[in-house]
This record gives sequence, C-alpha cells and structure tokens, in this order.
Amino acid sequence: SFNPPQIDLKKYIRSIPDYPKKGILFYDISTLLRNADAWQIAAARMANGVAKWNPDLVAGIESRGFVSASPLASALGCGMIMIRKPGKLPGKTISLNYDLEYGQNCLHIQEDAVKPGQRVVVVDDLLATGGTLQASIELLRKVGAEVVGAAALIELKGLKGREKIDVPLHSVIIYE
Ligand code: PRP
Ligand code: MG
Repeated sequence: SFNPPQIDLKKYIRSIPDYPKKGILFYDISTLLRNADAWQIAAARMANGVAKWNPDLVAGIESRGFVSASPLASALGCGMIMIRKPGKLPGKTISLNYDLEYGQNCLHIQEDAVKPGQRVVVVDDLLATGGTLQASIELLRKVGAEVVGAAALIELKGLKGREKIDVPLHSVIIYE
C-alpha cells in the first residue's frame, strides 16, 4: 500500500462557527479537497485503514460520503454502492428514517444493491452523532450485506458517535 507522508491534515480543514445553525461548529472539507496533495494523502490514509477488512464493495452515503467513497473503492479495487436521500434511486428501494445532529433524515438503498454475504465497508465524510452511519449499516444488512467496517474522514469524538456504530470504525482525522 501507498505510504502517505506524515502531514497534519487538520491544517487543510476549515472550521466555520454557527453553520448551518447557531451553536454548530462546521468542519468544512472543501479546503482539504481543493488541495491535491492533502486530498490524495487523506484518501490514501483511509484506504490503508480499511484494506485489512477485505471488502467486496464500498458504500458511500449521499452526498459528502460519495466524495470519500469513490477514491476508496478505486484504491481497493472494489465496486461502489450509493446510499441516497429520498427520490433518487430507481427500482425497488428500502428506506430508513433517523435523527440527525440538526434535524431528521431518510436514506434509501436499492434492494438488489449487494449479493448475499458480500463484504461491505460504509463510508462517510464525517462521524458526528453516528445516526447516519448506523442507519446506513442497518440498510446494508437489510439487503443482505455483511458490513465489515465503517470509515469516516473526520470523527467528532466528543459526540460519541463511535459508540452507536456496531462495526469497527477507521477515522482519518479526529477532533476531541
Ligand atoms: C452530514 C455529514 C454526515 C452526517 C453526520 O450530512 O455529511 O453524513 O451529517 O452526522 P451524524 O453522525 O450526526 O449522523 P448531511 O445530512 O448534513 O448532508 P450532506 O452529506 O448531503 O452534506
Ligand atoms: Mg452527509
């Protein structure tokens, strides 16, 4: 595997107070994505942390999760699944409603997204309360996946989302 240089990726993440609501500190990954070297290193660190689970498929969560899931699938030689917000996936889907740090959300997956027992790693940009990742894990199981792990570019440790996730989690950047 690629051995990424030891740079501090936090330097490339911008934090924006009171977005999208008062009292929320928003970690903006746009500034990381814009930097070719930083983004390549972040993606490589994610791939290195996940490779040991030997997935067949990577599942990305709309919308910011897609950004991390694509290079991960590509680096590991996996196919990719899209877990999407309502009204976006054709064919038969299964859905789940869940609570978000700020509001409510609903996610869908195609009923035939995985073959029975396929090993899936689910990916998002950010682990906050863990509601989004755990809902996605449950959706994947409903369609027959073996969810072997989860990955997040950023983990907000104080919100204890990791405790809500019932698979091993690899996070690239951690805020206490
Ligand atoms: C954000 C973020 C994660 C989720 C994390 O997504 O991208 O998916 O919230 O929160 P949680 O751990 O408390 O569930 P959001 O629904 O805001 O939308 P986006 O990805 O489409 O920007
Ligand atoms: Mg999201």
